[in-house]
Amino acid sequence: MSGKKPGNPFQINILETASDMGEVENLQRLVWPGNETDIVPSHFLVAAVSNGGVVIGAYETGGFESSFLDEDIGNEGLQTKHGNLVGFVFGFPGLYSTPDGPRLKHHSHMLGVHPNFRDRGLGFTLKRAQWQMVRHQGVDLITWTYDPLQSRNANLNIAGLGAVCDTYIREAYGEMRDGLNEGLPSDRFNVNWWINTQRVERRLSKKARRKLDLAHFLAAEIEILNPSQIGSRGLPRPAALNTLSRKIIERNASMLLLEIPADLSAIKSGDPALALEWRLHIRECCEVLFRNGYLVTDFIYLSGTSARSFYVLSQGMTTL
Ligand SMILES: CC(C)(COP(=O)(O)OP(=O)(O)OC[C@H]1O[C@@H](n2cnc3c(N)ncnc32)[C@H](O)[C@@H]1OP(=O)(O)O)[C@@H](O)C(=O)NCCC(=O)NCCS
Repeated sequence: MSGKKPGNPFQINILETASDMGEVENLQRLVWPGNETDIVPSHFLVAAVSNGGVVIGAYETGGFESSFLDEDIGNEGLQTKHGNLVGFVFGFPGLYSTPDGPRLKHHSHMLGVHPNFRDRGLGFTLKRAQWQMVRHQGVDLITWTYDPLQSRNANLNIAGLGAVCDTYIREAYGEMRDGLNEGLPSDRFNVNWWINTQRVERRLSKKARRKLDLAHFLAAEIEILNPSQIGSRGLPRPAALNTLSRKIIERNASMLLLEIPADLSAIKSGDPALALEWRLHIRECCEVLFRNGYLVTDFIYLSGTSARSFYVLSQGMTTL
């Protein structure tokens, strides 16, 4: 394939060899530091890609991007790699249940971007490349799990990519010992990314979507289920899931907002007990909401010094 475009210093490649996977191992050590047993080893990554799995890497190239993402996937889409691996996504085929029996899906197990290269759209670009590859395999659904308290991940997964969620898993992976996850129960959202829907195609199109603004929701009288309050150390505290909140759920509002901390790592390092309080609070809220037919459909992030983050939940969505 000919194309390299000037202006973007990253190149996207499909990874296949043991040496490629060695680089992925090293990047995992940076993204999830501190525990060697939590690294997915190179031999397993090679085995996965030999059997329908997909590993895609983002390389820093110094000024050029691959045109890979603009065209249908095929072997001609691969570029010669060079530069440093600064991001990767890894997933493998799996099954999900339907009334007509099991169906094929892709389960995306890891997405990681080097800490120095975050917030430049690499996570989005890697997921977009995964979307193309998996569509090429004829599969409709990609699933993955993520920590519902991680605001950046929520923004990317829900607002950016158009994944939806109605499944909360307590302690999904047991005790996790890496630097990013240690200290809190490993609760996760399990998200569905229906990759052939208009909703997802629109989110992935090059036309930027208008950002959702909290003011619009409040003007439409959509309530915040759990507005946070700033506590003694300047960190946000979760509201109790009080009688008012329960009433809102019982009243079957068609839409609700659920607040999460905008910066979990600041809370984890400043007040670990508060981080646990948030974990248990969001666990309780989500379990009640999902039991009552709500689906996470969008996400609002207000950046700035008093950053705030909110999931948008919709009741009774049958089509997306
Ligand atoms: C999650 C991760 C892969 C995202 O990578 P990334 O390259 O930073 O992602 P992107 O830049 O494409 O998207 C991040 C978005 O979140 C926004 N963002 C930044 N900080 C945020 C915050 N505190 N809250 C909400 N959104 C935030 C960014 O502005 C960007 O949005 P935009 O593109 O609309 O501007 C990366 O942060 C990472 O490696 N995290 C650690 C590992 C991890 O959690 N992996 C996922 C689970 S396996």
